[in-house]
Amino acid sequence: GIRDSVNGLVGSEMCIRDSGRCSGLVETPKQTETWVSGLNRKERWILPANLHKLAAAAARKAYAPYSGFPVGAAILTTDGRIFSGCNIENAALPEGWCAETTAISQMIMDGGGRIAEIAVVALKADQCPPCGGCLQRIFEFGAGSAKVHLCNAEGIVETCKLRDLLPRHFVKSGRPSV
Ligand code: THU
Repeated sequence: GIRDSVNGLVGSEMCIRDSGRCSGLVETPKQTETWVSGLNRKERWILPANLHKLAAAAARKAYAPYSGFPVGAAILTTDGRIFSGCNIENAALPEGWCAETTAISQMIMDGGGRIAEIAVVALKADQCPPCGGCLQRIFEFGAGSAKVHLCNAEGIVETCKLRDLLPRHFVKSGRPSV
């Protein structure tokens, strides 16, 4: 169930449930918290600010020796799971990929899911809107209403709806449904 999947989080992600062992995470639920159905009141504190912190932690793992531009992303799924990722570059420059893509791959390898929110942080930029390819990937596993938190190293700078960043995602019919 949901409780098991949250309990199953590993490493830094476990901090989301156990704030006592992880300083720095925001513990007070605010109105901006995402309602994760099935979680009790005490567990409803997967806050955007914590998504930012996980994205920033992921960015610190970035392999970005060519651009010197570390990026991190953290996904909250509609069933309350959290996944993070960093950009991974390559000496064959076009073969590198973005932080959002790594985070999505973690979600897929945990059995998939739907993206409710995603935080993206570039440690060296004021904000980092996902690139066009990543917006399309986020849309594949989200909806137009999914929240995209644009962050800098300190916190969330702006929260957008996915549909505002990608008004016309690709669909084979040419007619987006959302
Ligand atoms: N990058 C991301 O990881 N996410 C984005 O949304 C934009 C760009 C990475 C790709 C590359 O490793 C570095 O940032 C510089 O372009």
